[in-house]
Amino acid sequence: MTYPYQIKSLEAYHKAYKDSIENPSDFWAAIAENFVWKKKWDKTLEWNFEEPKVEWFAGGKLNITENCLDRHIDTLGNKPAIIWEPNDPKDSSVILTYKELLFKVKQFANVLKNNGVNKGDRVCIYMGMVPELAIAVLACARIGAIHSVIFGGFSAQSISDRLIDAQAEFIITCDGAHRGNKIIPLKSVVDDALINCPFVKKVIVCTRTHTAISMIKGRDLWWKEEIKKIDAIGNPDYPAEEMDAEDILFILYTSGSTGKPKGVVHTAAGYMVWANYTFVNVFQYQQGQVHFCTADIGWITGHSYIIYGPLSAGATTLMFEGIPTWPDAGRFWEIVDKHKVDILYTAPTAIRSLMSCGMEFLKDKDLKSLKVLGSVGEPINEEAWQWYYKNIGKQKCPIVDTWWQTETGGIMISNMAGVTPQKSTFTTLPLPGIEPLLVDENGTELLGNNVSGNLCIKKPWPGIIRTTYGDHERCRTVYFATYKNLYFTGDGCLRDEEGNYRITGRVDDVLNVSGHRIGTAELENAINMHSGVIESAIVGFPHDIKGQGIYAYIIFDKMHEDANLTRQDIIQTVSRNIGAIAKPDKIQFVSGLPKTRSGKIMRRILRKIAEGETENLGDLSTLLDPNIVSEIIEGAL
Ligand code: WT7
Repeated sequence: MTYPYQIKSLEAYHKAYKDSIENPSDFWAAIAENFVWKKKWDKTLEWNFEEPKVEWFAGGKLNITENCLDRHIDTLGNKPAIIWEPNDPKDSSVILTYKELLFKVKQFANVLKNNGVNKGDRVCIYMGMVPELAIAVLACARIGAIHSVIFGGFSAQSISDRLIDAQAEFIITCDGAHRGNKIIPLKSVVDDALINCPFVKKVIVCTRTHTAISMIKGRDLWWKEEIKKIDAIGNPDYPAEEMDAEDILFILYTSGSTGKPKGVVHTAAGYMVWANYTFVNVFQYQQGQVHFCTADIGWITGHSYIIYGPLSAGATTLMFEGIPTWPDAGRFWEIVDKHKVDILYTAPTAIRSLMSCGMEFLKDKDLKSLKVLGSVGEPINEEAWQWYYKNIGKQKCPIVDTWWQTETGGIMISNMAGVTPQKSTFTTLPLPGIEPLLVDENGTELLGNNVSGNLCIKKPWPGIIRTTYGDHERCRTVYFATYKNLYFTGDGCLRDEEGNYRITGRVDDVLNVSGHRIGTAELENAINMHSGVIESAIVGFPHDIKGQGIYAYIIFDKMHEDANLTRQDIIQTVSRNIGAIAKPDKIQFVSGLPKTRSGKIMRRILRKIAEGETENLGDLSTLLDPNIVSEIIEGAL
């Protein structure tokens, strides 16, 4: 496979960028020629941001799995598509060639069909990082079912919220998942979720941990047994379903500043083109390389850069089941050496956590196979950047700092490895097709360089969010209504004297904890579920490893004698309602919250106190009860 659209020099980048902005339709039509279509499109782009409506390659017919699998069989059939590395280094890894992966995807597509899953049906996938997860995702895409993958760290309540929102009647899960020395009881969590979801018809369970589970007659099925039924019929062929370019490929839930998480919708053709194009260009992927993205497939990073981007490019993608610090903090480096990883794509939080474990875990590691390093999920601080560059990349590997979001489908602003200049802590330049724009609060564009403001994007790119599932109005208000005719990212951003972009963090009420998005309103709602909680306010504070930590101010009714026990109760409530990833790091009990006379909590003050600032709290004169501030400062943790 060759990549005629791979940009190989700075001049070529500038030219591609210019072409893409001056004539987006021609530019993307030419890129789209590099894919397999069942029928070519009629119109490359149709859009308006008012509704919003975005259609890429309308009238085109395709199936993304033909682009990820079938088209590689002649040339790459016996090459590894997936290398799976288990949680425990003592267990053996698994390699699936493109031929084997296609076989398994067809086989499981038949299992889905056999169980009544049809094109357009929503299938929820709640699994650990096992090869069957990738197979399940691709099998859904093969038959045209819409997958909604839920990260294994979410609670039963979170799952049922998502099942109800998507009206998903099918679930694919595992008995359990290995994560370090822990086992996550996935099936049992699903069982709890299903108490509220009687509309779920089938649950297919893949065996991984051999944990005891309860299988409900008529509803729950073993993956293995279902495969046997298909094998008994004979040849498990499954021609790829013909999909419209704008048919939904998947839903992925993500948190925002208000309400429950929303289902971000991506569609078949545009997403495919964007995931592939960004993968090939940002990482400068070369045929035969091994790509290791350490994210979980439960997040967009895993969708785009473990599955769809690499496989559509014919790459070898490495899927790791475990965690970076078990059995010790050398696990990533051991995997890099074992599988001769060329491209390593991870998050600043992982880098900081491994950095804090010391150099001894790097002592016997070679890391010579590495050519490109990547960072994603949150701003990377200078110290972590330098450590990554020096100790992992040995000052030879470019680092791509990739800014993007669940809603953007793929990377938006990033340097291209070895092609466009890197600059530590800067995501640098926009990819072709992306027109970033900084605005002030009033929506006035900030022109020129050396300015900072709120980051917006001017025109649609192929991977842009199409809607929020079941609620198009929410999509409009959240992303397209803040500033007229612009997509609003929710991020603050600075443009330096050379036009490089640096993301400064969220400007809305969304926290980024270890690269995970957590809405403060969602978290407050979860905490307020506790019978003793009268009111709560959540803010972020700088955290050495997580980037941001969660600080909870809580007005509590009847405390246990031991305040720590009350704290444990609250943490339990959060774990039950959202999941362990949203547990507060600090809980301070207060007798009141700083509010304006109109009853609005002044988070600015709470944020400053959480950061350790006790003076310069700004204007307190509009507060209903200014005394509360000194009480909160006194009790600050
Ligand atoms: C938010 C999106 C994109 C996949 C992982 C997270 C922050 C993401 C960077 C980066 C600074 C970054 C932004 C963004 N973010 N990448 N390279 N530098 N900030 O996806 O959960 O949708 O979160 O993550 O704040 O809005 P997500």
